[in-house]
Amino acid sequence: MKIYKKQKMLITGGNGYIGSCLAKIASNKYDVFIIDKKERNIFLKQKKISFFRENLNNLSKIKKIFFKIKPNIVVHLAGQSTIDFINKKKKSYLNNNINVTQNIIKLCKIYKIQKLIFSSTASVYKEGKKPFKENSKLKPNNLYGKTKLKNEEDIQKSLKKAYTKYCILRFFNVCSSLVKEKIGEFHSPETHLIPKVVNHLFMKKKIFIYGNDYNTRDSTAIRDFIHIRDILNGILRAINFLDKNKSEIFNLGSASKISVMEIINKSSQLLEVKPLIKIKKRRIGDLPILTCNIQKSKKKLKWYPKNSTLKKIIIDEIKWQKYLRQKKYKRTFYN
Ligand SMILES: NC(=O)c1ccc[n+]([C@@H]2O[C@H](COP(=O)([O-])OP(=O)(O)OC[C@H]3O[C@@H](n4cnc5c(N)ncnc54)[C@H](O)[C@@H]3O)[C@@H](O)[C@H]2O)c1
Repeated sequence: MKIYKKQKMLITGGNGYIGSCLAKIASNKYDVFIIDKKERNIFLKQKKISFFRENLNNLSKIKKIFFKIKPNIVVHLAGQSTIDFINKKKKSYLNNNINVTQNIIKLCKIYKIQKLIFSSTASVYKEGKKPFKENSKLKPNNLYGKTKLKNEEDIQKSLKKAYTKYCILRFFNVCSSLVKEKIGEFHSPETHLIPKVVNHLFMKKKIFIYGNDYNTRDSTAIRDFIHIRDILNGILRAINFLDKNKSEIFNLGSASKISVMEIINKSSQLLEVKPLIKIKKRRIGDLPILTCNIQKSKKKLKWYPKNSTLKKIIIDEIKWQKYLRQKKYKRTFYN
C-alpha cells in the first residue's frame, strides 16, 4: 500500500480572520503551520496545527522557521488593513505590509517553495462603476491599496523566473462565519460593516452610515460581499490550479452588488429588530461602488461563490454572534 505524505501548508497571519478559518478547514488535508505576531487564535484549538509566534519583519527569525518546516505551500495572509490605523502610523504600516511580503518572496526563492498564494484586495483597482476584471486599470486611491499593489508587483517581478508559482487573489469584502466549524470574524475593535450591523441590532445601538449621498440606487455605497467559505474554497482551488497551470491573478468576490442600506435592512428583517440609524459624512477613500467580475475565476478555478447570498451571509453571522454571546466572548466595536 502506498503511503501518501501530507503536503505542508504554511499560513502567514494564520491567527487572523481568514487565516484561522483556513487553518481549521485545511488541517483535514494538509499539515498546517502558522506564523503570526499575535497569540494563538482562541477558536483554533486543533493540536495538530503548529504555531510560531513571530513578526514576519524579522527575516533571520522566520528564515529559521522556514528551514524547520520546509513548506510546500505558503498562503500569505499577514497584513494590516485597517484604514484608520494607516493614517495614524504610516511608517510602521508601510514597513509591515511591504517588508513582510519582500521577506516572504526571498524565502520562497531560498527554500524553493512550490506554491505561493497572496491575499490582495479590491482596493488595487482604479475607481469605476463597472465590475472590475483582473485586467481592469489599477490605481489604488488609499495607502492600503497602494501597498497591496506594490506587493503584487514585487511578487510578479521577483518570481517571474523562479521555481515558485503563485496566485494573486484579489479578495473583495470577506464576511460571515463557518457555522459548523464554529469560527469566524473576531477582531477587537471590529471595524467591518456586517459584524457591526448585526451586533448593533442585537444591542439596540445606533448604526452609523458613512455617506448617503452616493450616486447609487439607495444613495449608500455598494460593495461585493463574499462569504468566508467561498473565499476558502477559492484559496484551495487556486492551490490545486497551480499543479498544472502557470501563475495567475484572480478576483475572489461574489459579483453581487449589495448596498450598505440593504445589509442593514436584511439584518433587521432577519433579527426582527428595527434599526437605529445615524448618517455620518463619507469617509476619505471610500468609493461609491466596488464590485467585481468573476468569470475568469469561475472558468479557470472551476469555482463558484455558492454561499454568498445576502441571506446566508447574514444568517451565518447571526449564528456566529449568538454563539459568541452564549460563550461570553467579548470584543469592542469601532463606531
Ligand atoms: N477581510 C477582508 O475583507 C479582506 C479583503 C481583502 C483583502 N484582505 C487581506 O487578506 C489578508 C487577511 O485578512 P484578515 O481579514 O484575515 O485580516 P486579519 O487582520 O484578521 O489578520 C491578519 C493577521 O496577520 C497578522 N500579521 C500582520 N502583520 C504581521 C507581521 N508583521 N508578522 C506576523 N503576523 C502579522 C496579524 O497579527 C493578524 O493575525 C490581509 O492581508 C488582508 O489585507 C482581507
